[in-house]
Amino acid sequence: MPNIAEQIKKSLTQDALALINNLGKTARDLGYNIYIVGGPVRDMLLGRPIVDIDIVVEGDAIALARGMAKALGYQSKTHPRFGTANLYMSNVSADLVTARSETYEKPGALPTVTPSSLKSDLARRDFTMNAIAASVAPNDFGELIDYAGGLNDLKAGLIRVLHPNSFMDDATRIFRAVRYEQRLSFTIEPVTEGLIKQNLSMIDTISGNRLKNELNLIFKEDSCIKALERVDELGILKRLHPSLRGNGWLSAKLCKDCDQVILFALLTYNLNEEDCRDTLKRLNISGKNGQTIKEVQKIKKELNALSVHNLPFSRVYRMLENFSNEAVEVVILAEEPSAARQHLELYIEELQLIRPILDGNDLKRMGITTGRKIGQILKQLTNAKLDHKVRTRGEEERLVKSLIRGDKP
Ligand code: CTP
Repeated sequence: MPNIAEQIKKSLTQDALALINNLGKTARDLGYNIYIVGGPVRDMLLGRPIVDIDIVVEGDAIALARGMAKALGYQSKTHPRFGTANLYMSNVSADLVTARSETYEKPGALPTVTPSSLKSDLARRDFTMNAIAASVAPNDFGELIDYAGGLNDLKAGLIRVLHPNSFMDDATRIFRAVRYEQRLSFTIEPVTEGLIKQNLSMIDTISGNRLKNELNLIFKEDSCIKALERVDELGILKRLHPSLRGNGWLSAKLCKDCDQVILFALLTYNLNEEDCRDTLKRLNISGKNGQTIKEVQKIKKELNALSVHNLPFSRVYRMLENFSNEAVEVVILAEEPSAARQHLELYIEELQLIRPILDGNDLKRMGITTGRKIGQILKQLTNAKLDHKVRTRGEEERLVKSLIRGDKP
């Protein structure tokens, strides 16, 4: 097997390399084998930046983390229930897991985990390219372990599952396959693509929160647009809701730095209210985010009324005042230039900021006593101000006096 000691040294910062070397020595002293695995090995082999350092220990990951903390001053956070630990010092960290095998009692369920060997640990993983390990023990530092032919698949740019039940065990892997394919400009190899298509119904076993997380991970990718088109093409989006589309329209509207709620609002924008509600339910989007997306649907219904030319600005204001700015902004983003969109922009940029000069105290001084009446008159005053019927304090006072007298404004 090849040795990637040089790639490891080149890819890691001084501090990260020191951490890896210290881990290797401490593990050796405890009699454990230790490996860097999955994403970081894949990315080192591809010459891509390393995001996380994932370590598998044939031994007790928690004892190893505690040993490192005691002897070398690293900070450790241990999770005994899962046999995992996080080790860190200033700007470097690593995730340690005890080598384990996983069995799935039913599709979509969380796996039952038992301590095991590196071989079984690699065998439980998603794709061959993520099932490669490199030893970080001092005596064979950098030696690759690749039981599944991951190296060849990496060279060929192929995403391949390790066994035919992979998507049944964990259907989120369907999303992961597309994410890697688009990120790395790889190809999902034909048998794996066939298995995706065959197992689309397994998506129904994924909880709303996990689905939302998978979509969020796609949104965060640089290749998000291509990935969304691909999840559409493979029939994955339709499985979430038959009306969802990851098409050119969505691609043109998505912005890299958009908040997540805006991304989900755009994803569901062209759905009718009922389909949108069902999708929110499926993705477990509730609370403030759910509210914003429902508001977007309501604003869509006002677009006809908002497209009337010369609509009094007070009408525009009153149609939109109960919606959040975020919801109005989504509609602006989603709609093509039109009279309605101009009104939405005017509302956000100007109308919503307009207030009369007079306030409640001024109205009290002018003799209005009840809170309800003050509210009514302030509203009429705001409308008049929005419609440019009053400009100065004097004009506002004159209007208030006529309203007190009961004149028609
Ligand atoms: N993994 C898996 N099945 C999943 C999720 C994760 O087999 N459903 C395994 C893969 O071997 C993966 C590792 O767990 O490499 C770590 O998962 P994650 O951090 O999500 O993946 P990375 O490969 O590090 O990917 P990324 O670059 O997106 O962080």
